[in-house]
Amino acid sequence: MAGATLACMLPFLNLWLHVLAAVIWIGGMLFLSLVAVPVLRQVDSPLLRADLFRKMARRFRRLVWICIAVLILTGIVNVAYYGNTAPGSPYLKVLGIKLGLVAVLVALGVTHDFIIGPRAARAQSRDGLPPTGTDLLMVQLAPWVGRLNLLLGVIILVLAAALTRSH
Ligand code: HEM
Repeated sequence: MAGATLACMLPFLNLWLHVLAAVIWIGGMLFLSLVAVPVLRQVDSPLLRADLFRKMARRFRRLVWICIAVLILTGIVNVAYYGNTAPGSPYLKVLGIKLGLVAVLVALGVTHDFIIGPRAARAQSRDGLPPTGTDLLMVQLAPWVGRLNLLLGVIILVLAAALTRSH
Protein backbone atom coordinates (compact mmCIF):
# COMPACT_ATOMS: atom_id res chain seq x y z
CA MET A 1 0.00 0.00 0.00
CA ALA A 2 2.74 2.44 1.09
CA GLY A 3 4.81 1.29 -1.91
CA ALA A 4 1.90 2.02 -4.29
CA THR A 5 1.38 5.48 -2.76
CA LEU A 6 5.08 6.25 -3.14
CA ALA A 7 5.02 5.07 -6.78
CA CYS A 8 2.08 7.46 -7.44
CA MET A 9 3.93 10.31 -5.75
CA LEU A 10 7.20 9.89 -7.68
CA PRO A 11 6.11 11.58 -10.95
CA PHE A 12 4.72 14.48 -8.93
CA LEU A 13 7.90 14.79 -6.83
CA ASN A 14 9.92 14.71 -10.05
CA LEU A 15 7.79 17.54 -11.55
CA TRP A 16 8.19 19.49 -8.29
CA LEU A 17 11.99 19.10 -8.48
CA HIS A 18 11.87 20.23 -12.15
CA VAL A 19 9.90 23.38 -11.25
CA LEU A 20 12.14 24.03 -8.20
CA ALA A 21 15.29 23.93 -10.39
CA ALA A 22 13.62 26.33 -12.88
CA VAL A 23 12.66 28.72 -10.05
CA ILE A 24 16.18 28.71 -8.54
CA TRP A 25 17.83 29.26 -11.93
CA ILE A 26 15.50 31.92 -13.42
CA GLY A 27 14.87 33.56 -10.03
CA GLY A 28 18.64 33.74 -9.47
CA MET A 29 19.20 35.38 -12.87
CA LEU A 30 16.46 37.94 -12.14
CA PHE A 31 17.93 38.63 -8.67
CA LEU A 32 21.40 39.19 -10.17
CA SER A 33 20.21 41.61 -12.87
CA LEU A 34 17.45 43.45 -10.94
CA VAL A 35 18.97 43.59 -7.43
CA ALA A 36 22.66 42.67 -7.25
CA VAL A 37 23.93 44.61 -10.30
CA PRO A 38 22.09 47.90 -9.46
CA VAL A 39 23.36 47.68 -5.84
CA LEU A 40 26.92 46.95 -7.02
CA ARG A 41 26.78 50.05 -9.25
CA GLN A 42 26.64 52.08 -6.03
CA VAL A 43 30.01 50.67 -4.85
CA ASP A 44 32.55 53.44 -5.49
CA SER A 45 35.70 51.38 -5.95
CA PRO A 46 35.73 49.81 -9.45
CA LEU A 47 38.13 47.08 -8.23
CA LEU A 48 35.90 46.11 -5.31
CA ARG A 49 32.81 46.25 -7.58
CA ALA A 50 34.41 43.94 -10.16
CA ASP A 51 35.68 41.58 -7.44
CA LEU A 52 32.27 41.32 -5.73
CA PHE A 53 30.52 40.73 -9.06
CA ARG A 54 33.04 38.05 -10.09
CA LYS A 55 32.63 36.22 -6.75
CA MET A 56 28.83 36.31 -6.98
CA ALA A 57 28.84 35.20 -10.62
CA ARG A 58 31.22 32.30 -9.88
CA ARG A 59 29.12 31.03 -6.98
CA PHE A 60 25.89 31.38 -8.98
CA ARG A 61 27.46 29.66 -12.02
CA ARG A 62 27.96 26.42 -10.06
CA LEU A 63 24.30 26.51 -8.98
CA VAL A 64 23.15 27.15 -12.58
CA TRP A 65 24.91 24.07 -13.97
CA ILE A 66 23.43 21.94 -11.16
CA CYS A 67 19.95 23.36 -12.00
CA ILE A 68 20.39 22.68 -15.72
CA ALA A 69 21.50 19.08 -15.06
CA VAL A 70 18.47 18.60 -12.74
CA LEU A 71 16.14 20.19 -15.37
CA ILE A 72 17.37 17.87 -18.12
CA LEU A 73 17.22 14.69 -15.98
CA THR A 74 13.81 15.46 -14.43
CA GLY A 75 12.61 16.73 -17.85
CA ILE A 76 13.31 13.29 -19.38
CA VAL A 77 11.33 11.64 -16.55
CA ASN A 78 8.49 14.20 -17.12
CA VAL A 79 8.33 13.19 -20.79
CA ALA A 80 8.16 9.51 -19.80
CA TYR A 81 5.30 10.10 -17.30
CA TYR A 82 3.29 12.98 -18.75
CA GLY A 83 4.40 13.13 -22.38
CA ASN A 84 2.00 12.81 -25.30
CA THR A 85 4.42 11.66 -27.95
CA ALA A 86 1.81 10.87 -30.64
CA PRO A 87 3.40 11.92 -33.96
CA GLY A 88 2.16 15.39 -35.08
CA SER A 89 0.52 16.23 -31.72
CA PRO A 90 0.64 19.91 -30.60
CA TYR A 91 2.32 18.63 -27.41
CA LEU A 92 5.23 17.20 -29.40
CA LYS A 93 5.60 20.45 -31.38
CA VAL A 94 5.73 22.61 -28.22
CA LEU A 95 8.16 20.11 -26.63
CA GLY A 96 10.37 20.28 -29.75
CA ILE A 97 10.55 24.10 -29.59
CA LYS A 98 11.20 24.01 -25.83
CA LEU A 99 14.03 21.47 -26.24
CA GLY A 100 15.50 23.49 -29.15
CA LEU A 101 15.65 26.57 -26.93
CA VAL A 102 17.12 24.53 -24.05
CA ALA A 103 19.88 23.38 -26.45
CA VAL A 104 20.58 27.02 -27.48
CA LEU A 105 20.65 28.01 -23.81
CA VAL A 106 23.14 25.27 -22.88
CA ALA A 107 25.35 26.23 -25.87
CA LEU A 108 25.24 29.90 -24.83
CA GLY A 109 26.00 28.95 -21.21
CA VAL A 110 29.06 26.92 -22.27
CA THR A 111 30.26 29.81 -24.52
CA HIS A 112 29.73 32.35 -21.75
CA ASP A 113 31.30 30.34 -18.90
CA PHE A 114 34.23 28.75 -20.72
CA ILE A 115 35.17 31.24 -23.47
CA ILE A 116 33.74 34.75 -23.00
CA GLY A 117 33.89 34.86 -19.17
CA PRO A 118 37.58 33.79 -18.77
CA ARG A 119 38.69 36.18 -21.60
CA ALA A 120 36.73 39.07 -20.02
CA ALA A 121 38.32 38.33 -16.62
CA ARG A 122 41.77 38.26 -18.26
CA ALA A 123 41.16 41.78 -19.64
CA GLN A 124 40.96 43.04 -16.06
CA SER A 125 43.98 41.14 -14.69
CA ARG A 126 46.82 41.32 -17.22
CA ASP A 127 49.37 42.45 -14.60
CA GLY A 128 49.57 46.01 -15.89
CA LEU A 129 49.58 44.97 -19.56
CA PRO A 130 46.89 46.62 -21.70
CA PRO A 131 44.00 44.28 -22.61
CA THR A 132 43.86 43.05 -26.22
CA GLY A 133 41.01 44.06 -28.57
CA THR A 134 39.47 40.58 -28.28
CA ASP A 135 39.58 40.77 -24.48
CA LEU A 136 37.71 44.11 -24.58
CA LEU A 137 35.15 42.68 -27.02
CA MET A 138 34.52 39.82 -24.56
CA VAL A 139 34.00 42.35 -21.72
CA GLN A 140 31.27 44.01 -23.80
CA LEU A 141 29.76 40.73 -24.97
CA ALA A 142 29.49 39.04 -21.53
CA PRO A 143 26.51 41.05 -20.14
CA TRP A 144 24.61 40.68 -23.43
CA VAL A 145 24.95 36.90 -23.35
CA GLY A 146 23.67 37.01 -19.75
CA ARG A 147 20.64 39.08 -20.84
CA LEU A 148 19.94 36.75 -23.78
CA ASN A 149 20.08 33.76 -21.39
CA LEU A 150 17.51 35.44 -19.14
CA LEU A 151 15.21 36.15 -22.11
CA LEU A 152 15.50 32.55 -23.31
CA GLY A 153 14.78 31.30 -19.79
CA VAL A 154 11.57 33.36 -19.60
CA ILE A 155 10.46 32.11 -23.07
CA ILE A 156 11.15 28.50 -21.99
CA LEU A 157 8.91 29.10 -18.94
CA VAL A 158 6.06 30.24 -21.24
CA LEU A 159 6.58 27.12 -23.37
CA ALA A 160 6.58 24.94 -20.22
CA ALA A 161 3.16 26.33 -19.24
CA ALA A 162 1.91 25.85 -22.85
CA LEU A 163 3.21 22.26 -22.80
CA THR A 164 1.12 21.37 -19.75
CA ARG A 165 -1.95 22.79 -21.49
CA SER A 166 -1.43 21.10 -24.87
CA HIS A 167 -2.18 17.49 -23.85
C1 HEM B 1 16.17 24.66 -18.94
C2 HEM B 1 15.10 24.66 -18.93
C3 HEM B 1 13.72 24.20 -18.47
C4 HEM B 1 12.83 24.96 -17.78
C5 HEM B 1 13.01 26.39 -17.29
C6 HEM B 1 11.64 24.14 -17.60
C7 HEM B 1 10.53 24.54 -16.90
C8 HEM B 1 9.40 23.79 -16.69
C9 HEM B 1 8.27 24.14 -15.87
C10 HEM B 1 8.15 25.43 -15.05
C11 HEM B 1 7.34 23.14 -15.95
C12 HEM B 1 5.98 23.09 -15.25
C13 HEM B 1 4.92 23.65 -16.16
C14 HEM B 1 3.52 23.59 -15.54
O1 HEM B 1 3.24 22.67 -14.77
O2 HEM B 1 2.70 24.45 -15.89
C15 HEM B 1 7.88 22.15 -16.85
C16 HEM B 1 7.25 21.00 -17.20
C17 HEM B 1 7.77 20.05 -18.05
N1 HEM B 1 9.03 20.05 -18.62
FE1 HEM B 1 10.44 21.48 -18.41
N2 HEM B 1 11.83 22.93 -18.20
C18 HEM B 1 13.10 22.91 -18.74
C19 HEM B 1 13.72 21.85 -19.40
C20 HEM B 1 13.08 20.70 -19.78
C21 HEM B 1 13.69 19.62 -20.50
C22 HEM B 1 15.16 19.58 -20.91
C23 HEM B 1 12.70 18.70 -20.73
C24 HEM B 1 12.77 17.39 -21.44
C25 HEM B 1 13.82 16.67 -21.62
C26 HEM B 1 11.48 19.18 -20.13
C27 HEM B 1 10.26 18.55 -20.13
C28 HEM B 1 9.14 18.93 -19.43
C29 HEM B 1 7.89 18.17 -19.38
C30 HEM B 1 7.58 16.89 -20.15
C31 HEM B 1 7.04 18.87 -18.51
C32 HEM B 1 5.62 18.44 -18.06
C33 HEM B 1 4.62 18.93 -19.07
C34 HEM B 1 3.30 18.20 -18.86
O3 HEM B 1 2.58 18.52 -17.93
O4 HEM B 1 3.03 17.34 -19.67
N3 HEM B 1 11.75 20.41 -19.55
N4 HEM B 1 9.13 22.55 -17.29
